[in-house]
Amino acid sequence: MEELQLGELEGPAPRNKSLFIDRLAAGRRVVLLHVEALSLPILDIAETAELAASAGLTLAGQVTARRRREHPRWLVGSGKVDEIGQLIQAQGADMLVVNNDLSARQQRNLEEALGCRVMGRSELIIHIFAQRARTFEGQLQVELAQLTHAQTQLVGGWSHLERQRGGIGLRGGAGETQLELDQRMLATRIKSVQSRLAGVRKRRGQGQRQRRRSGAQTVTLVGYTNAGKSTLFNALATAGVAAEDKLFATLDPTLRRIDVPGAAQVVLADTVGFISHLPHTLIDAFKATLEEVSQADLLIHVMDGAAPRLDQRIADVEAVLEEIGASACARINVLNKCDLPQAEPAPPDALSVSAATGEGLDALRSRIGSALGVQDPIEVDLPASAGGVRAWLYAADAVLGESHTSDGGMRLKVRGDERLMARLRRDLAACGRRKFEVT
Ligand code: GTP
Repeated sequence: MEELQLGELEGPAPRNKSLFIDRLAAGRRVVLLHVEALSLPILDIAETAELAASAGLTLAGQVTARRRREHPRWLVGSGKVDEIGQLIQAQGADMLVVNNDLSARQQRNLEEALGCRVMGRSELIIHIFAQRARTFEGQLQVELAQLTHAQTQLVGGWSHLERQRGGIGLRGGAGETQLELDQRMLATRIKSVQSRLAGVRKRRGQGQRQRRRSGAQTVTLVGYTNAGKSTLFNALATAGVAAEDKLFATLDPTLRRIDVPGAAQVVLADTVGFISHLPHTLIDAFKATLEEVSQADLLIHVMDGAAPRLDQRIADVEAVLEEIGASACARINVLNKCDLPQAEPAPPDALSVSAATGEGLDALRSRIGSALGVQDPIEVDLPASAGGVRAWLYAADAVLGESHTSDGGMRLKVRGDERLMARLRRDLAACGRRKFEVT
């Protein structure tokens, strides 16, 4: 589905389906316009090209424009518009992607002048999120971001809604202009999506409280997009989350239990890939999901050791963490892809791992354990009758070694967090053994 399905807006939306999601068809040939102007944020052209590729678009050409300030009508001057038009024709492209955001007016004028679709950076990122949305909540969040974006475009008196008008037969009341009709439809739809999101969040909040009550600790993977979070998630949790060599392969937080020796219950959460200058409509739509990051007991910042601009990417992730109130969370820095040649020197505290080959993962598990309060191992003697205690210690993956004692009991080398040790103390007291020996 490439264009908005407005006809479906009027009826009640079926469950588990977001109807308003505007998905870009992959394989379109695009020309990239890189504009540098004092009035615009400085953005990396290489990153925009990566984003376009990540959206499944084929790069057919690139034009750079340097200006003192942006042109109010087309962002760039008319001569540049002609140059872009010629390149689009020569390359058989059917879309222009701009490395910055455009006003509604600039977008409309460029589309009219070039006779093809024009997309700014924020819209492109929202499209990537739309392609990657997997859960119902993720789809609703993307839909909300797209609707909010469409609302900002309507202020300019035009939007992609216009393209659908002829065929849908939507008509307002007497005297209602098309703009008013569009505004009314968007406002109604936004309300409906927001209320459905509230329902989904309520249910998720219940799950989260349940996990907390059961004493589970949450470890959340964060990092720049494509750093290898999903791959690491799979390697640690042996779960089937899609890992793709594209940006934003993960959109929705995914939860799995993982084994951390000595920690009773640990839940690993995979999150959406961060990127510099995440559009505000997206941050707002994903606010609840992103805010959950700040509630984690521990964050693992996954860095791509093979990627260029490592310092910049780290700074971009820090900026997003700051924005969502998660910068003070306990943290482990992980330099992933250590099986590949490293592009730049690693931060000194980063633990080198390869999610692909498994190298360094035991050390990572152990570091997760220490960060979650797993204490140094101790040796403990259990009477032969304490088979139940032995069984739960094994189930908690807390036993590092075992031998027999002369009285027919067991000597266990045990590692655990405070909770586990407190339970062990209680159980030992119940069978008359109090002695803990630190090895
Ligand atoms: P987003 O969801 O976009 O944020 O990406 P991500 O951080 O979840 O990255 P993902 O796990 O999808 O991995 C991105 C690419 O890097 C995939 O092609 C992976 O196969 C590859 N990759 C991940 N970890 C490693 C690694 O340790 N070594 C190598 N060589 N490749 C890896």
